[in-house]
Amino acid sequence: MSSPAQAGRKKRVFSGMQPSGEAHLGNYLGALRPWVQLQREYDCVFCIVDDHAITAGGNPADMPKNVVDLAVSFLAVGLDPEQAIIFVQSDVPEHTELAWLFNAVTPVGDLERMTQYKDKAQHFESIPAGILNYPILQAADILLYKGEAVPVGEDQRQHLELTRDIARKFNAAYGETFPETEALIDKGVGRILGLDGEAKMSKSLGNTVGILAEPDEVWGRVRTAVTDPQRVRRDDPGRPEVCNVFTLHGHFTDAETRADIEVKCRAGEIGCVDCKRILSDNIAEAFGPIRERAAHYRAHPEEVRRTLQEGAERARAIARETMSEVREKMGLDWRSAIV
Ligand code: TRP
Repeated sequence: MSSPAQAGRKKRVFSGMQPSGEAHLGNYLGALRPWVQLQREYDCVFCIVDDHAITAGGNPADMPKNVVDLAVSFLAVGLDPEQAIIFVQSDVPEHTELAWLFNAVTPVGDLERMTQYKDKAQHFESIPAGILNYPILQAADILLYKGEAVPVGEDQRQHLELTRDIARKFNAAYGETFPETEALIDKGVGRILGLDGEAKMSKSLGNTVGILAEPDEVWGRVRTAVTDPQRVRRDDPGRPEVCNVFTLHGHFTDAETRADIEVKCRAGEIGCVDCKRILSDNIAEAFGPIRERAAHYRAHPEEVRRTLQEGAERARAIARETMSEVREKMGLDWRSAIV
């Protein structure tokens, strides 16, 4: 196989997002916005990972709506089916098929060492195997498309390491097949804290602002954001360096206004409510064009369906090719043994 550089083709990037409905501000800053950039420079495959979401224990009946809402968010932020393959994981059954075969080269000890597994496992009396095996499916997602690079947050770095280990082990056992996928960590903006100012922004924690929220809904959410806990009265001097609202301003507010807020906050001249008002207005304004595009897709669900169908067909063509190579290399192609 010639290297991508030799062949003069773009490197393949794979990334996935769980369908927990409409994307939120953390999804946008940490993933979707960088993906929109990446789709121009790389051969991108973007996946709504509904099979992963099953391990999280949500209600499967919510899945269709959550998948569609996330697909609308993908298209509204500017992920472009002309430039990237956009599809739903369960439309390509080869993901779970490859994950099963990867069981053969993945030590249980490696899975048990994953910090995300250890965190999640605490919430169960009887731990579902799906929680343990989750990173195997993630490795299959990436390697099914021979993904050479994956934009991930810090919290996914370990899963990507495991993906590389799986690729190495597979290649050593059955012959050179998969690339050792590199992490594109610097493409994001790091961890985006939720409105509680404590935990990573996440739908399940209820500390998010949806990117498709109307301005009054944005205000309803931002109003609840936790600021500097030592600031009790409006004229108490504030500490922007410990205030998550000030951090969020960094993504939505121009430098001059931020400098002004910083000075006035320290002097107790601007209250938290006023400061949040500015943030809320800027968020609502920044997402205006995205809301408009989302309204279009909501009014034309058939366009969304067609995009996902076409994406799945393109994804599946690649996935089938990889699977037949994998089966052949592993000696699983029993048909060829029947002469
Ligand atoms: N585990 C990732 C998350 O929770 C989602 C995901 C699934 C993913 N498969 C992937 C991310 C493949 C990157 C590549 O954020």
